[in-house]
Amino acid sequence: MNFNIAIDGPAGAGKSTVAKIVADTLNMTYIDTGAMYRAITLLSIRHNKSDINDIVELIKQIEIKIEGKRVYIDNEDVSDDIRSIEVTNEVSRIAKIPEIRHVMIQLQREMAKNKGVVMDGRDIGTIVLPDAKYKFFLTADVRERAIRRYREMIRKGHDVTLEQVEKDIEYRDFQDKNRDYSPLKAAEDAVIIDTTNKTIQQVVEEIIDVIKRGEGIVL
Ligand code: DC
Repeated sequence: MNFNIAIDGPAGAGKSTVAKIVADTLNMTYIDTGAMYRAITLLSIRHNKSDINDIVELIKQIEIKIEGKRVYIDNEDVSDDIRSIEVTNEVSRIAKIPEIRHVMIQLQREMAKNKGVVMDGRDIGTIVLPDAKYKFFLTADVRERAIRRYREMIRKGHDVTLEQVEKDIEYRDFQDKNRDYSPLKAAEDAVIIDTTNKTIQQVVEEIIDVIKRGEGIVL
């Protein structure tokens, strides 16, 4: 497809699952930009660096590769490590640093320059790809989002409580919405979809319908 799709929204709104299915359906490339911020966070934890300049220096020395749902730092598969509770709790602190966002945004634009990507994140429709042909903003009640994340974490064997997950999500929402540089926000021209009482399949269909209408195609 000769266009890009931006999918933004808060944690647990179903973005990554939906974006991946949309990308597969349309034969496009899925890019999870949250995974990039998580990879940098993992890197800073591993190297025990909290100074901004040190972290930016580290980023310059490594290569981050995203292939579908797998993420690599210098060819090491870190897909599971970046989902740890430690990284999850630390990532919004790293993601609000303008110098780091600047580097990530350049990388993300580079990945999308030949079109054909479905990119999910927080600032894709507003800052990274303001010219994306299709923009969606997924939301859901905080309780519903916490329940989804909680189930996912329990399935992966993490020892957490629903209250703890909800508190973590609220904390991250606050950080993501209130940072000065490219905060979590719906683009003015984004289609807003409340996923609270919808299945993944329903949300995917809504998105595909918008694209079918926009392109005048039958899929
Ligand atoms: O989607 P996620 O939960 O994996 O994202 C991890 C963190 O990265 C989240 O706290 C917000 C941040 N993020 C961001 O600031 N900008 C993006 N484009 C994507 C994610």
